[in-house]
Amino acid sequence: MNFEPSFTRYLAAKKSVDDRALNRNVWDAFCRALPMQSPDAPLRVIEVGAGIGTMIERLIARAVLTNARYTAIDLDAANIAELNRRVSSTPDIRIEAHAIDVFDFSARATQTWDVLIAHAFLDLLDVPRALPLLFNLIRHGGLFYFTINFDGATIFEPTIDATFDAEIERVYHSTMRDSQTGRHLVRWLRDAGATIIQAGSSDWIVSGDAAGYANDEAYFLHFIIETMRGALQDRPEFASQRDRLLEWIACRHRQVEQGTLVYIAHQIDFVGRVVGTRTNAEERG
Ligand SMILES: C[S@@+](CC[C@H](N)C(=O)[O-])C[C@H]1O[C@@H](n2cnc3c(N)ncnc32)[C@H](O)[C@@H]1O
Repeated sequence: MNFEPSFTRYLAAKKSVDDRALNRNVWDAFCRALPMQSPDAPLRVIEVGAGIGTMIERLIARAVLTNARYTAIDLDAANIAELNRRVSSTPDIRIEAHAIDVFDFSARATQTWDVLIAHAFLDLLDVPRALPLLFNLIRHGGLFYFTINFDGATIFEPTIDATFDAEIERVYHSTMRDSQTGRHLVRWLRDAGATIIQAGSSDWIVSGDAAGYANDEAYFLHFIIETMRGALQDRPEFASQRDRLLEWIACRHRQVEQGTLVYIAHQIDFVGRVVGTRTNAEERG
């Protein structure tokens, strides 16, 4: 297999997987909860961990944004460069993108936003510590839309060896900060003073056939499998069976090439409002 790792290509390939996965009830509740937008009162949106801007593209394509000022934050300058290549400001939708750590950005912010978006991002963070800092970005009564939060299931079909497959899933999850971020968010959001308007599953489900996979989703799958190899190959749990692990990885790549691999990751979406005790944000108005 000839695999060239590219995070920006992975994020682009992930877009169609996310399009299918995003929970429709949560999306609809988000759209209903948005304040009116007009040229005189544009919606102020901030997205953290925005990657290459696929959520902005989605919100524009689905006509959710009509008059908006959109601030996109990502740590990685290459992602922001790609975002700026993919999406441009228009007279009605002004986009501003910054390559900066979101916590540095939050500490320096001099304004608040109507809506905070974090898509496939929160499960990378120490969420209970991060939420108050992220919520400082939202005005009192503002909305958050937190999507694709991983929640404890990585499924591959067909089974190779049920026991070994389960061990790989277990150890892979143990390499994550919290592999049950999705379910824990229910409590963490409430503890941080938020009200959940709607929550629902947003599982990635990727399957192909003899003709392959939709769009660039074969690349998405190869990237996920390579991410797992990177996370697992030096783990002590596999020290005595490294060749077996690498053969498992190679087998999963072959299944992608044959269009026989099915991949499912369980995730949860949330939309809600921040109504709790305010600190910096309230002072900034
Ligand atoms: C899994 S990617 C998701 C990107 C995008 N939301 C998407 O779904 O296409 C997570 C993103 O978070 C960014 N990131 C990680 N830590 C960050 C931090 N502390 N501040 C800002 N961005 C961060 C990474 O650079 C990466 O682009």
